[in-house]
Amino acid sequence: MKLPSLLEAKKRTNNKINIVPEGYVLNENYKNLGLGKTYYVKTYGCQMNEHDSENIKAILETMGYKEASEFEKADLILLNTCAIRENAHNKVFGMVGRIKHLKESRPEVMAGICGCMAQEESVVEEIMTKYKFLDIVFGTHNINNLPNIIATSMAKKSLEVEVDSIEGEVYENIPVKRDSKYKAWVNIMYGCDKFCTYCIVPYTRGKQRSREPKYIIDEVKELVNDGYLEVTLLGQNVNAYGKDLNINYTMANLLEDVAKTGIKRLRFVTSHPWDFNDEMIDVIAKYDNIMPYIHLPLQSGSSRILKLMGRRYTKEEYLELFNKLKTRIENVSITTDIIVGFPGETLEDFNETLDVVNACKYDSAFTFVFSPRIGTPACKMKDDVSIEEKNQRLYKLNDLVNKYALEANQKYLGKTVKVLVEGYSGKDESMLMGYTETMKLVNVKADPKNIGKIINVKITDVKTWSMDGEIVD
Ligand code: 5AD
Ligand code: SF4
Repeated sequence: MKLPSLLEAKKRTNNKINIVPEGYVLNENYKNLGLGKTYYVKTYGCQMNEHDSENIKAILETMGYKEASEFEKADLILLNTCAIRENAHNKVFGMVGRIKHLKESRPEVMAGICGCMAQEESVVEEIMTKYKFLDIVFGTHNINNLPNIIATSMAKKSLEVEVDSIEGEVYENIPVKRDSKYKAWVNIMYGCDKFCTYCIVPYTRGKQRSREPKYIIDEVKELVNDGYLEVTLLGQNVNAYGKDLNINYTMANLLEDVAKTGIKRLRFVTSHPWDFNDEMIDVIAKYDNIMPYIHLPLQSGSSRILKLMGRRYTKEEYLELFNKLKTRIENVSITTDIIVGFPGETLEDFNETLDVVNACKYDSAFTFVFSPRIGTPACKMKDDVSIEEKNQRLYKLNDLVNKYALEANQKYLGKTVKVLVEGYSGKDESMLMGYTETMKLVNVKADPKNIGKIINVKITDVKTWSMDGEIVD
């Protein structure tokens, strides 16, 4: 048993992070532990979690498990959870209820919780008192040890909890079972040291640890060899890449070196405005295979609230960066994240957020009502705005965001764009779907033989969240 501690997770030391080149080694005894059994991994939250699930699946397969098509049929169920807002928590415990029900008819089923919620003391306490029928709980720093955790729980026939709060080494060569044959996530760093006052991530993911450039570049080269067309470099704050390595190598250097691998499409998430420098902008503008798409979280348009959030930029500085990106990177599309109802947000503060949205006319935005996270500074701040008022602000903001999203899409009508076709459209099985270079979702009328290709598509209709088009030569 190793229980999480938010207090421990908050600590930052200057200790050098060890890189372990042979990160994942399977103990011989666990090789056949999953033989004849199936697993089901359900993922909540961000791309980082999606990618962790790809690692978890591959690790389970090294033990002999195979992927189940439905959760009801699986012998091992894992919920890879997100802690960023309260509603993610509620969804997970809803699913735990379904697992309890399943275990009544199939008691041999194993089930567990991993990911960011497993890093929260209150969640683990809740599991240990109310949901003891679960078999394993493991944290974001414990993925590599999954076979051991499963084996221990099997032997003990009881709940096994293994959650480290202090990050460990950076493991290379962790097995991965990628969801797509055409686009891949590649981690470039783990953790975050920004400590925005509302955010749980620096606690759930630990200190910033960059992977060494050579491992990242080699991974992308291998993906290019395997026929992958798109790579997204992943990190909580990718612009700060390399700062912890002390080797005088930055995100701009990495972007350039990865672009040179010849990968057809290169993306990166998530950027923090603070570390977005001119060198990065130059590299993005210079390479055709670095996609003209930037996710640039605003969070609030009020400098007063930004200060309380610990964001380290003012409204004016954000706008300056935004305008620089728009002028220096041809045809760039920019999306954002915005939180309404941060503690003490007045109507004037909120109106300043609307001002910034009016100025930036984002291609799209993810909008949220502030959700207090235990252990973060904002959780203790005085908050006298009612939830009704906060919801009203969210609706108003969404109306504005949607208006500009539609306007941005309308500019594409009649134009021909490049789309990487990923598969059949979810809405209409007779259509295919994919994304433009600028990250617009397009439903395309085309032959299924185009799946896995980048094709030219003429846009025939636009909506707020997607566009329709047809293949052209
Ligand atoms: N409450 C609401 N939204 C949050 N986000 C992060 N923490 C919180 C919180 N406590 C939002 C931010 C971030 C996105 C991933 O989630 O906008 O950019
Ligand atoms: Fe959720 Fe953040 Fe964890 Fe991603 S890193 S799963 S967004 S809490």
